[in-house]
Amino acid sequence: MKESFIDADLNEAMAPAKDVEVFPGVTERRYFLQGSLATAAVILAAVATPKDVLAQSQKATGAAGTDKLAWDEFLKQALPEAQQLIADAGFNFDEYLFRIGSLATRLKEIPDSKLGPYTSVDPRVSFGPSFRGSPFYIIQWRMEPGAFLPPHNHPNASVCTLAFAGEVQLRNFEIVGEAPDLASKKTFRIRETRNETMTPGRISTLSPVRDNIHCFQVGKTAARGIDINTEHPKTTWFSFLDMNDKPMDTEGRIYEVSWNPQLGQKKTS
Ligand SMILES: [Fe+2]
Repeated sequence: MKESFIDADLNEAMAPAKDVEVFPGVTERRYFLQGSLATAAVILAAVATPKDVLAQSQKATGAAGTDKLAWDEFLKQALPEAQQLIADAGFNFDEYLFRIGSLATRLKEIPDSKLGPYTSVDPRVSFGPSFRGSPFYIIQWRMEPGAFLPPHNHPNASVCTLAFAGEVQLRNFEIVGEAPDLASKKTFRIRETRNETMTPGRISTLSPVRDNIHCFQVGKTAARGIDINTEHPKTTWFSFLDMNDKPMDTEGRIYEVSWNPQLGQKKTS
């Protein structure tokens, strides 16, 4: 009952999975986006707009759908670009994230990767690898209605999140001042720096130097997407955070938090 409700939500946004031949003799299941808004707009324009105006519009934006990338094409373009940027002495986190992210926004499909529950934090959140490589790996996620993935950091990592289906509220935070050691129960402060509604095709990025803590909240519609993760050298620790939902400074969007490295970890006796 629950499952069919979720599937109905996702099916609204995604066409049924199809088998695609990725290499000669090798097939993989893929999800595809339903006809995009851009396609719908062009169809409507064709009905309502004089031919010369339509021709101009097509010239400016390209033929409908030609900007879209298949999964393999995305990897073929993104990997060398990422490798080149990482190797550059003038490497810049934002340039890296936005270059990769701009390609990700053009994805017309994502693989039908096997997903499983992500620890016990919220069984409505599932994760699974969609690509392992260098310099990035891609984790696919699916969040059922009502799912909440609590605030957590991405130590010394750059992450580009792409929403592919459904809708999820994504909030980012930054530490205010100094954070205590991970083992400490002391409270500290974080500031909300972003709060956005992620719908299909939108990206959100974080880097080691900005927006590094984030959390996901799903409403009535299940959501699916990917995180393109790049771990930079000297990776430190990962932890969820306990956050007091009531801001201690509403105008400044400041919240009181403490580290909770035990959350989501397997219990040891
Ligand atoms: Fe995350």
